[in-house]
Amino acid sequence: MRLVILGPPGAGKGTQAASIVEEFDVKHISTGDIFRENIKNETELGTKAKSYMDQGLLVPDELVNEIVVDRIAKDDVKNGFLLDGFPRTVNQAVALDAALENMETKLDRVINIIVDSELLIERACGRRVCPECGATYHISNNPPASPGICDEDGATLIQREDDVEETVKTRIQVYEDQTSPLVDYYKAQGLLLDIDGGKEIAAVWEDIKAGLKQGANE
Ligand code: AP5
Ligand code: MG
Repeated sequence: MRLVILGPPGAGKGTQAASIVEEFDVKHISTGDIFRENIKNETELGTKAKSYMDQGLLVPDELVNEIVVDRIAKDDVKNGFLLDGFPRTVNQAVALDAALENMETKLDRVINIIVDSELLIERACGRRVCPECGATYHISNNPPASPGICDEDGATLIQREDDVEETVKTRIQVYEDQTSPLVDYYKAQGLLLDIDGGKEIAAVWEDIKAGLKQGANE
């Protein structure tokens, strides 16, 4: 299956992606994670991306499109992929469609996670992540067994630099302005699976799983 997961900052894309890739045996491709990895490794791409990410702004399309187009052509995604955080502009969506057409394939479904803005700020600001394995927690909604420690590998959890309230607000506005038009873009293609992301994590997952299985049987 070739999937996109769409939704504002803090909607739960990464959280649900972990369950989706396990259940449907697809590769998780998160452009945010790719940029954060490059920042950690101090690459040229990382330096360029950081200046935008720290302000809550989008990295320019020309830096993003090539990375994703190259990544989805790799052998290890032959079984399918889940794009998380891409596309984020209509220009990116058009580039993705063109790349898939070149590969004589197409998207199967676009999962659209819908969450009220007030919840998004609380979720993003309370998020903690493992710098080693990328596991995501929330200080109250989804805490680790021992506060501040990753359940998977015992590493000390950190807060993302863009998870401060002012930057989260900018990211939500950027989503409204530049990314939300993709909802209509994919609705017009008949690909959209709307999901109420305001429910608890496990309930959201049940809805996604049922929606994707139903789609596969249609
Ligand atoms: P990116 O990393 O993609 O961030 P984002 O889209 O802002 O989304 P988040 O990762 O913040 O949220 P999420 O939906 O994954 O939520 P999560 O599951 O962690 O992008 C970061 C930056 O990179 C961008 O701002 C931009 O600068 C740049 N960038 C990336 N891609 C780009 C592109 N294509 N073009 C240009 N620039 C790009 O959950 C959040 C918290 O809520 C967690 O604590 C979690 O435990 C909790 N939670 C999750 N679900 C629930 C639930 N149902 N109930 C209660 N709590 C929940
Ligand atoms: Mg994420």
